[in-house]
Amino acid sequence: MKDSFGREISYMRISVTDRCNLRCRYCMPEEGIENLGHDKILSFENIERIVKAAVALGIKKYRLTGGEPLARKGIVHLVESLAKIDGVEELAMTTNGTLLADQAEALKKAGLHRVNISVDSLKYDKYEEITRGGDLDAAFAGVNAALRVGLKPLKLNVVAMAGFNDDEILDFIQLTINHPINIRFIELMPIGQAEKNCEYRYLSSEEIKSKLPGLIPLNKQEGVAEIYKYPEALGNIGFISPMSNQFCGSCDKIRLTADGKLKPCLHTDEEIDLGEILNKNDDVLLKETIRNAILRKGEKHHLNDGAKPVDRGMSQIGG
Ligand code: 5AD
Ligand code: SF4
Repeated sequence: MKDSFGREISYMRISVTDRCNLRCRYCMPEEGIENLGHDKILSFENIERIVKAAVALGIKKYRLTGGEPLARKGIVHLVESLAKIDGVEELAMTTNGTLLADQAEALKKAGLHRVNISVDSLKYDKYEEITRGGDLDAAFAGVNAALRVGLKPLKLNVVAMAGFNDDEILDFIQLTINHPINIRFIELMPIGQAEKNCEYRYLSSEEIKSKLPGLIPLNKQEGVAEIYKYPEALGNIGFISPMSNQFCGSCDKIRLTADGKLKPCLHTDEEIDLGEILNKNDDVLLKETIRNAILRKGEKHHLNDGAKPVDRGMSQIGG
């Protein structure tokens, strides 16, 4: 369906848990956050009901996020039931990959189409530093398993940070040359931990591109990413530039938090609680509520003018 600004909303990101087995510095405080209790987290049945209602409004693409979606018990069953819903044309997941190796095959069989894996450094010590203890081998075991079972096209999400991984740009690019791996450089957004006490600085997509002579623009957008490539490369390179090139005009998303709130925009605190409606067992009302939430999407974010949504961090929204 179209929102109030004529944008076709066709994509829902579903956070299935606010828990994570890592503690990325720009995302979570060291001590973690107080996790939602089990009673607050949407049940799989309710996620299924919401997706059925959203499909009826023309939402075709779904992405499971977290926290870390693979940290939610039974996630393969959720994938299986969502993949079966008529009208779910694309089902993807964003994960840190460290729990993926064991589950990749089952996820693929259950109907998951593809994964984005977040890997901000290719160096053991720096990966451990940014994730506060994560193991790069585990993440790459996930990457390799995803390639092996055909969860593709595979994307690696790389949050670009000056003073952290700006010296690794060419190493990431190299992966696209020899492997069917697409890299997505994401500009660091000043939200949650990244706003409060992140020691790394924002690095614009333009700065990265300026270090990459010979990059060929494919003149296409994939979602909100602008896509480039090197000749003969097996994978492509995308730039997601929420800060330098506000893409709100082509935003096609709505978000669902793990505790059942719809967020029309990542960058405002506005939320529509589905809890009571889910209790009423009225799926027509559920659909109308989702429609109204979509109609409340604002025109654009105001991060560059200093707006600061404060209620939730990234790990509670899922990116
Ligand atoms: N800015 C940019 N990207 C972020 N992510 C998490 N927090 C931020 C932030 N402040 C990324 C994660 C993951 C995706 C869901 O969003 O690294 O790849
Ligand atoms: Fe976990 Fe992802 Fe946040 Fe890192 S960015 S702490 S992997 S939810």
